[in-house]
Amino acid sequence: MSRADLNKRPDEVAAMFDDVAAKYDLTNDILSAGNAPLWRVATVRAVDPQPGEKVLDIAAGTGTSSAAFAKKGADVTALDLSAGMIRVGRERHPEITFVEGDAEHLPFDDDTFDAVSISFGLRNVNDPQQALVEMLRVLKPGGRVVICEFSTPPLALLRFGYGTYLKRVLPGVAKLSSSNPAAYRYLAESIDAWPEQQVLSQWLRGVGFTMVAYRNLTAGIVALHRGRKPVAGTVRASVARRAKARRDHQVTGEQPRVQPGTDAADHDG
Ligand SMILES: C[S@@+](CC[C@H](N)C(=O)[O-])C[C@H]1O[C@@H](n2cnc3c(N)ncnc32)[C@H](O)[C@@H]1O
Repeated sequence: MSRADLNKRPDEVAAMFDDVAAKYDLTNDILSAGNAPLWRVATVRAVDPQPGEKVLDIAAGTGTSSAAFAKKGADVTALDLSAGMIRVGRERHPEITFVEGDAEHLPFDDDTFDAVSISFGLRNVNDPQQALVEMLRVLKPGGRVVICEFSTPPLALLRFGYGTYLKRVLPGVAKLSSSNPAAYRYLAESIDAWPEQQVLSQWLRGVGFTMVAYRNLTAGIVALHRGRKPVAGTVRASVARRAKARRDHQVTGEQPRVQPGTDAADHDG
């Protein structure tokens, strides 16, 4: 299945999450076999929120991911498309500012946040690359982006077992523990259609993030991606490197060693 086949409009995605809001966190913990809290700890470590820093949590849902940032003393804004998820979130976490909005059109000024994070949300966004452009825009220069998302286990045997779990086990468990089993069928299909780690890294570089890297969690069932908004000096250095690579290419006829959209300092981990 491709992402185009999923073809969900933002209002349909919001309505689906409105429906599951009350039981969302419980169902999540069951379906992740208790791994969800570990993935959240790894995400908070990667964001590394400092007291007083402005952190934006996109697709924050009921605010479980946002609360972990607020605990570290950060000034957290939680944005989500679903009014139902936000309603549950406001009741549970009055200390957090919730904003209803779309990841593709963030209602914030340029250069506002020290860090932007999105956990298990980018996969649901219609145009994820447009959401990455928006994340880059609202980050301050030097600001950090962290994306926690289901991904592709590199080991073939695990990939097969996980595929079977998604198609056969997950829909059955969701039937028992969720008010909207169709939402969990969509979960399985959207994970299946989501690109693997290297592609998401390329998307991040493509929109202009530097220092792009990722780390697999639970053998690659989840991947934690990170990057930085370039500061002006980094942009200048990167542009100069690309210009030099182009000049070398013209003189020698060899392929440029630095590809457009990449930065020599970037690495995948
Ligand atoms: C699987 S939940 C993740 C919630 C939370 N981040 C967590 O880790 O528990 C995905 C959330 O993405 C939100 N969402 C989907 N598309 C969105 C969009 N375009 N903009 C903002 N939020 C969106 C949904 O409403 C839902 O609350």
